[in-house]
Amino acid sequence: MVMLSVSCAQLALAKGMSLAVLQGVRKTYRMGEEDVHALAGVDLTFEQNEFTAILGPSGSGKSTLMHILGFMDVPTSGRILFEGEDVSALSSDRRAWYRSHRVGFIFQSFNLLPRLTVLENATLPLLYREDFPDDASREAAAKKALDRVGMSHRLTHRPTELSGGERQRVAIARALVGRPALILADEPTGNLDSRNVDRILELLGELNREGIAILLVTHDLGVAAHARRIITMRDGRVQEDKQT
Ligand SMILES: Nc1ncnc2c1ncn2[C@@H]1O[C@H](COP(=O)(O)OP(=O)(O)O)[C@@H](O)[C@H]1O
Ligand SMILES: [Mg+2]
Repeated sequence: MVMLSVSCAQLALAKGMSLAVLQGVRKTYRMGEEDVHALAGVDLTFEQNEFTAILGPSGSGKSTLMHILGFMDVPTSGRILFEGEDVSALSSDRRAWYRSHRVGFIFQSFNLLPRLTVLENATLPLLYREDFPDDASREAAAKKALDRVGMSHRLTHRPTELSGGERQRVAIARALVGRPALILADEPTGNLDSRNVDRILELLGELNREGIAILLVTHDLGVAAHARRIITMRDGRVQEDKQT
């Protein structure tokens, strides 16, 4: 299974295959008597190694798009190819496989588990990975990821004992520990001061240069300017899609 996944990803890269292709993707929520069209027909292609920002007013479907691309939610209709495979209608087991092997998440509110240490938080995504079968292999990978984000001096701290910028760096370590093809970051800098915003953006830029695609939701035009592509959403649709 592991070898298969690695060779699939390498094959996708070698063939110049797109990371993700969305065709006519819709997501409709039923709220009482009313249908809410969170995504009202989205066609988008994301290439391997892209750094893309998503702008758009509140309620325009940005988070829904991230959840669907991150295998946390399924579209109501439409087609999605991920690394060349049709993932539009996967079983929940296969979705869980993609979630734990191919994507990483960063959230505005960090979403670290408060009772776990920094090291334990960073090992969490590896718990269901057959290629990290024991504590030693998971801890080694987590330490490497924490070192990558400059947090190896805080391994036994709890999240509450860290600043916001430090928490977000731990969250980035957690997102990258499983070597994802894509990191989804939903307003990752929304709770940070400008110095920490810069540091987080610098880290995401480095990870991108090392081959991880980044998809970043933001309200901040200055943050979006770090991306090479800016997509603007409105009313569940792509309003604008431009290279910077
Ligand atoms: N789980 C849900 N149930 C019902 N409506 C939802 C749900 N998630 C999102 N929505 C609705 O879908 C629309 C898009 O939401 P969202 O993707 O969160 O937008 P954004 O991230 O751009 O603010 C909004 O109108 C929101 O209220
Ligand atoms: Mg949102």
